[in-house]
Amino acid sequence: MTTLDLIGSSPKFRAVMTDVERVAPVDSAVLIQGETGTGKEVIARAIHEASPRRSQRFVALNCAAIPSALLESELFGHERGAFTGACTQTQGRFQMADGGTLFLDEIGDMPLELQPKLLRALQEREFERLGSTRTVRVNVRVVAATNQDLDQLVAKKLFRADLFYRLNVIPIRLPPLRERVQDILPLTEFFVAKFAASLNKPIDSIPEEVIEVLKAHDWPGNIRELQNFIERAVLFSPGSVLRLPLDFKHTVKQSSESASRTLADADREHILETLKQTDWLIGGQDGAANRLGVPRTTLIYKMRKLGIEIRRSTRARPIRQLAAEECHATASC
Ligand SMILES: Nc1ncnc2c1ncn2[C@@H]1O[C@H](COP(=O)(O)OP(=O)(O)OP(=O)(O)O)[C@@H](O)[C@H]1O
Ligand SMILES: [Mg+2]
Repeated sequence: MTTLDLIGSSPKFRAVMTDVERVAPVDSAVLIQGETGTGKEVIARAIHEASPRRSQRFVALNCAAIPSALLESELFGHERGAFTGACTQTQGRFQMADGGTLFLDEIGDMPLELQPKLLRALQEREFERLGSTRTVRVNVRVVAATNQDLDQLVAKKLFRADLFYRLNVIPIRLPPLRERVQDILPLTEFFVAKFAASLNKPIDSIPEEVIEVLKAHDWPGNIRELQNFIERAVLFSPGSVLRLPLDFKHTVKQSSESASRTLADADREHILETLKQTDWLIGGQDGAANRLGVPRTTLIYKMRKLGIEIRRSTRARPIRQLAAEECHATASC
């Protein structure tokens, strides 16, 4: 159906893929909800690739990674001179995605004051660039995603109910990996083959007991965590048999009754664990951002949001540079 590598055979994953096929041909908004690393972005791309819009652009915007003061211009564009530093007329993501799909990631972080303008763009398919009175019309399909509980944000009046209903025309919930254990074997085989090839390691066997340990782990970082873990396991396996790294800290799945952790708790734990593994190094090839598969500024933003202090790594660049990066990742600078 798509050119993307989407692996999974569990009933829950197959149900998601059935939803993808059903929603792809229409233009209705889709809201994808799920914990971090469950595959929200790849599912959004799959919807685009299976849709009649596939020959047009898929434009992604991470609402959490852009300072709120700049988000309006990122979405709708601006005229020359609209604000200090606006030297040229610039297209926004809505216009870039004309004819295609706009993926609004981390939609729960959309500032309240910008939500009415987004609602109008979704409903009327029109907007004005910052500093312009000319109305621009576009034909865009919006797919949004979040790992926050939008119902709760609406209840707390942190997210507009009308925008929520407009985005939630077709809801897709991505189950966490611990609820689709059947996918762990095919995913592991897929990632082992991928990293064996890219790291030039001739791994050709995965012991049954390794799979059993992976199945019993609770994977708070979901598929991204499994993927990063397998990369490390492939790298450190001494021979052609996959071995678990010695420092693998096995956390066992919680039963659903005792699972009272929030998504934020799971995010915090996963980020802290990764930071420990990288000795608090955030950027660069060996840094936590790379391991987590997110831009450095996004990780710094998330750390601040989750109350994780930025510590100095013994492997880090000067603290002044880190402070500057942190500054870049927030709206306040
Ligand atoms: N079904 C799948 N098969 C193979 N790889 C997958 C699958 N789902 C996700 N992945 C891989 O897992 C990683 C995380 O996926 P993705 O970025 O889509 O997650 P996410 O839910 O958007 O995470 P976050 O909330 O942190 O942004 C990516 O590298 C992606 O390629
Ligand atoms: Mg994502």
